Amino acid sequence: ASVTEPLRFDCYPERNVVVTQELCEARGCCFIERDQASGSRQGVPWCFYPPDFPSYVLESLNQTELGMVGLLRRKVKAYYPRDIETLQLSVEFETDTRLHIKITDSSSPRYEVPLQVPRAMKRAENPAYSLDFSREPFGLVLKRRASGVVLLNTTVAPLIFADQFLQISTTLPSTFLYGLGEHRSSFLHSLDWNTLTLWARDVPPTESYNLYGSHPFYLLMEEGGAAHGVFLLNSNAMEVALQPAPSLTWRTIGGILDFYIFLGPDPNMVIQQYQQVIGLPAMPPLWGLGFHLCRWGYGTSNETWQTVKAMRNYQIPQDAQWNDIDYMEGYRDFTFDPQAFSTLPQLVEDLHKHGQHYVMILDPGISSTNPRGSYWPFDEGLRRGIFINTTEGQPLIGQVWPGLTAFPDFSNQDTHQWWLENLKRFHAHVPFDGLWIDMNEPSDFMDGSVDGCPAGDLDKPPYVPAVLGGSLCAKTLCASAKQNASVHYNLHNLYGLHHSHVRLRWKRPFVISRSTFPSQGRYSGHWLGDNRSEWKDMSWSVPGLLSFSLFGIPLVGADICGFSGTTSEELCTRWMQLGAFYPFARNHNTQNEKAQDPTVFSSEVRTAMKEVLLTRYTLLPFLYTLFHRAHLLGDTVMRPLFFEFPQDMVTYSIDRQFLWGESLLVTPVLEPGADSVIGYFPRGLWYDYYTVRSGMLKMAAPLDHINLHIREGAVLPTQVGGPGLGASRGNPLRLVAALSPNAVAWGDLFWDDGESLDSFEKDNYSYLVFNVTQVGGPCTWEEACEL
Ligand code: GLC
Repeated sequence: ASVTEPLRFDCYPERNVVVTQELCEARGCCFIERDQASGSRQGVPWCFYPPDFPSYVLESLNQTELGMVGLLRRKVKAYYPRDIETLQLSVEFETDTRLHIKITDSSSPRYEVPLQVPRAMKRAENPAYSLDFSREPFGLVLKRRASGVVLLNTTVAPLIFADQFLQISTTLPSTFLYGLGEHRSSFLHSLDWNTLTLWARDVPPTESYNLYGSHPFYLLMEEGGAAHGVFLLNSNAMEVALQPAPSLTWRTIGGILDFYIFLGPDPNMVIQQYQQVIGLPAMPPLWGLGFHLCRWGYGTSNETWQTVKAMRNYQIPQDAQWNDIDYMEGYRDFTFDPQAFSTLPQLVEDLHKHGQHYVMILDPGISSTNPRGSYWPFDEGLRRGIFINTTEGQPLIGQVWPGLTAFPDFSNQDTHQWWLENLKRFHAHVPFDGLWIDMNEPSDFMDGSVDGCPAGDLDKPPYVPAVLGGSLCAKTLCASAKQNASVHYNLHNLYGLHHSHVRLRWKRPFVISRSTFPSQGRYSGHWLGDNRSEWKDMSWSVPGLLSFSLFGIPLVGADICGFSGTTSEELCTRWMQLGAFYPFARNHNTQNEKAQDPTVFSSEVRTAMKEVLLTRYTLLPFLYTLFHRAHLLGDTVMRPLFFEFPQDMVTYSIDRQFLWGESLLVTPVLEPGADSVIGYFPRGLWYDYYTVRSGMLKMAAPLDHINLHIREGAVLPTQVGGPGLGASRGNPLRLVAALSPNAVAWGDLFWDDGESLDSFEKDNYSYLVFNVTQVGGPCTWEEACEL
């Protein structure tokens, strides 16, 4: 009880039991009665570790070429089954700003995520960090050398390493913690006894739920503006418990503890360093940055076509038309409805003629109930044995849109071949340009399978993290299901990543995936899933997308105007204005709702939507260049303000404004009935994008206006807009220069044909740098300067 509340680490995180004193003390922990604790805040554990709780002892530590290896031995059995007696600790000083710490079973191999990570050749010479150890109980203390700030201190709670329960806690040097996705929350996480769960799940985004993707990575701002990042390379179901000490506990139910720590020191460098490990994002085709239109329930190809024509008629820019599952026959992948969508090939041809593109949905579930010989994808999949199997060795059958389905095992290379052949066969009929891969958590309308799940430690592990539904198989496959690379228990969070590996690559691929895992950015973008047509959903999209900037997936958007529910003209206008600044801009709607594309609204609103899309299109050379910088260096595209102003702590909690790159500030209206908006302007001059005047705090924001400001010293490359990128390709490029008070500005432009594979890698591009200097010295900023 001498342990103060913020430092009480939960010894009994199980949610399905009432923790009594007896149960708690049986674990060797301290218990504080419920009523005694009544003055306590919600979430403070009643059952917590005493400071002398037995853990591992560091028995030896030896130098290696890259760092050191140590042996850990536990003295007393932990309270979870199959705890591991001896562990190997390996530390590699990989670079001056990257440290790699791995803890695993010293005697037998365990599941490790097969990510292609860089290998260091020699030990870092001048590391920005120093590492100390506590011998008994074992712990590590990591410091930033320059400031002495303690970044990690794991001596605050015991290390537990059982077969299906691995736990390590650390103090944090501040409460400014970001990342740990995928969740719906403010960008800056609360550390007030907040538990975040990572287990891929199909569910409309809701606060505190585990959502579609899994990203065990956080970024933390230290006092003084330095930043560091921590990545736990582990794909098992896990929880991250945050508490006000401030401290953090990683709790995973499999794999190993494999940490990378990035020392920055500024936040942008942390994200670059993270992506040096997980891989840099793919360069999207230029058309992928145009405006996309989609809807579930167009019903027919002709109705889809009507929408495209209406958009053209009003000269509203549109680069891609999408179809949802209603294009399929009986919701079966690689088919299209021969009646309702009979003109689909002609529609796609027409899109191509207009320089536009076509994207359609594919779900992983493959219909398993068709007469043999009538559905090649299933028959052939069965023949090649590429489906995920039950423990009995039969394809696991669950249920998705087409009814009963089998699930391709994308951890198997043969599956990639089979999926590619399917893509090619379909492409011969419908020459699609991009793919929307959905339901790849994978989502199953049943829990587990038609037969449920077998009894056993994989489906019913000794500890179940706080997953929605209370069990691992909730709305997905059985954890015990067999895949080529391992059991689903280990591979579940990787399903969307493996799915995204398979793409046609004769042009630059465009793939948007719902489920994601670290390194996903190399293969696909992401959208935030099934949001609602509500104001709060629109504002949640900003922190949601900013988090994906941290995860190395810059090509991200949310369904503009909202997916489920009915949008309103005002909401949809504001959302189109915000969405015009999503890196990936798609308006998408659920079935049985009113159409919400720009053509269906009043002429006033239609015009406002068109104008803001034209603004996006004008800025595409700038956006495209930012994507190039992401691809080349790991820079973020949609950027939190504090990345540019790490010394300004006011920016740490801003998630209702954001930047494109370093210089374009977007201040959307996120409330109904507003005619003004309040935004924060960090130090320096900000020019109003439209009028080239400096900004104020409270800005007019009539319904037809979104506030955009250019930071002093920036040169933005732009292009004279036009409907459709195809149409605007030949348009002249222009520069907008926003001079700094000392009369200089800088910018760059990456430009190529917009769609060839690897144009940077093959040297088929132009890269220009612009330096602007005011002739005759600085002018005053109250007036627009003549260059
Ligand atoms: C899922 C997707 C949604 C799509 C629907 C039908 O709910 O998230 O975007 O429209 O399935 O395919």
